[in-house]
Amino acid sequence: MRQGSANPLRDPRDKRLPRIAGPSSLVIFGVTGDLSRKKLMPAIYDLAHRGLLPAGFSLIGFARRDWADQDFGQQVHDAVAEYARTPFRESVWNRLAEGIRFVQGSFDDDDAFDRLARTVQELSEERGTGGNTAFYLSIPPWAFPVVTKQLARCGLAQSSADVWRRVVIEKPFGHDLASAKELNAIVNEVFPEESVFRIDHYLGKETVQNILALRFANQLFEPIWNSNYVDHVQITMAEDIGLGGRAGYYEGIGAARDVIQNHLLQLLALTAMEEPVSFEPRALRTEKVKVLGATKPVGPLDETTARGQYAGGWQGGKKVPGLLQEPGFSKDSTTETYAAVTLEVRNRRWAGVPFYVRTGKRLGRRVTEVAVMFKRAPHLPFDTTSTEELGQNALVIRVQPDEGVTMRFGSKVPGTTMEVRDVTMDFGYGHAFTETSPEAYERLILDVLLGEPSLFPANEEVELSWRILDPILEHWAKQGTPEPYEPGSWGPPSAEALLSRSGRHWRRP
Ligand code: BG6
Repeated sequence: MRQGSANPLRDPRDKRLPRIAGPSSLVIFGVTGDLSRKKLMPAIYDLAHRGLLPAGFSLIGFARRDWADQDFGQQVHDAVAEYARTPFRESVWNRLAEGIRFVQGSFDDDDAFDRLARTVQELSEERGTGGNTAFYLSIPPWAFPVVTKQLARCGLAQSSADVWRRVVIEKPFGHDLASAKELNAIVNEVFPEESVFRIDHYLGKETVQNILALRFANQLFEPIWNSNYVDHVQITMAEDIGLGGRAGYYEGIGAARDVIQNHLLQLLALTAMEEPVSFEPRALRTEKVKVLGATKPVGPLDETTARGQYAGGWQGGKKVPGLLQEPGFSKDSTTETYAAVTLEVRNRRWAGVPFYVRTGKRLGRRVTEVAVMFKRAPHLPFDTTSTEELGQNALVIRVQPDEGVTMRFGSKVPGTTMEVRDVTMDFGYGHAFTETSPEAYERLILDVLLGEPSLFPANEEVELSWRILDPILEHWAKQGTPEPYEPGSWGPPSAEALLSRSGRHWRRP
């Protein structure tokens, strides 16, 4: 059995049984941040509520705040009450609260890390965590070297035959290929690769994992999933929110580094990869690495990419500031809030099929989808007027918010003439399943505690993703200010041109 995985009495291969984490604790660095409050703490409670955490599970917060265990407990309580997915139950909370500890200190404070090591030891003795500990670095990358070195210094990074130690890191994994390599080297100096869990929370989403089920559990789609039938693929991640309050993270980073390098290239990889020989982590990663290795930007980049920055204006009846007026952004910021790129997967299956990938803030609505757009039928035995309203067949994986899959095809309009028009056939999670989907972070935190790496991008995937994006980022860096676009629109005019040059159009989801 894999070291540190769940209850030894159950067979871990039996997928019908709930996957319950074995004895363990989680240490969160950056516990006062937004991610921790809105996502991590609620996810831990939700796991507890679903009975997926071990009895002695313990949560340790590490931060500079002058808090006692109870103060930190209160923070977790408030975060859970506000953001948890499952209902608040006193009994679940009380059990969880017994294992909550706080260690006060800064990252360069040796004493604080020694106290942390003692706390981990105490929890092992008092609550039976076995010393198994995951360290969640919800902190900026500049702090990784000092924190990982501290963990190594006080013996917390060292796994043994009986005790596992894992580190969880959040993006950004660098800002280009060179810095990503540096960062990986720093982390790997202390934690071996198999103990490093890089979070890409898109992989924790049910709808994203369903891409693999849709493709590889069915006979229907795979025969036409190639350049013979597919005209192009559109991957869209649109958000209607702006960047107020996020300047510290976003300024100088921009839309492409923020979500294309990670979430959207992972969507591309799952959509375009070959069937893995199994769903073992290594087999899955092998296929993702192959497809990312074959993915390249299509040029000339002036015509095949677009970048924009939202201007001030009106959105949903409200006046909203432009990026340059958002607090913390420089008045001449060149950070893009919209990015669209054209990629090609250079292999036999996909050669010649453009993958258009776009993302933006303050767009018309919040929607993430993968749309596989099929070629038109080679011949239409109808009058041209009958098919004027017939578009391209499409298979749309609706990642969020209206989770499901849509198939679009032509159908006869009822009546005495042969008129064909596009119709859709929908699968919606809400209709098909009674259970609601867990939050991405529930799944990912559970997998960390179980030592199950399938849903975490490997080092190589991260580096290959930068390799794809770097030439585009270098090209943009020479260009100065991105093109402005209206809030509530679908991006700058150059984004439209990117597709219209080849007679195609972006979907308006
Ligand atoms: C994060 C990005 O990774 O994903 C944010 O940093 C973005 O800019 C967020 O808003 C979107 O996540 P989700 O799950 O709401 O699509």
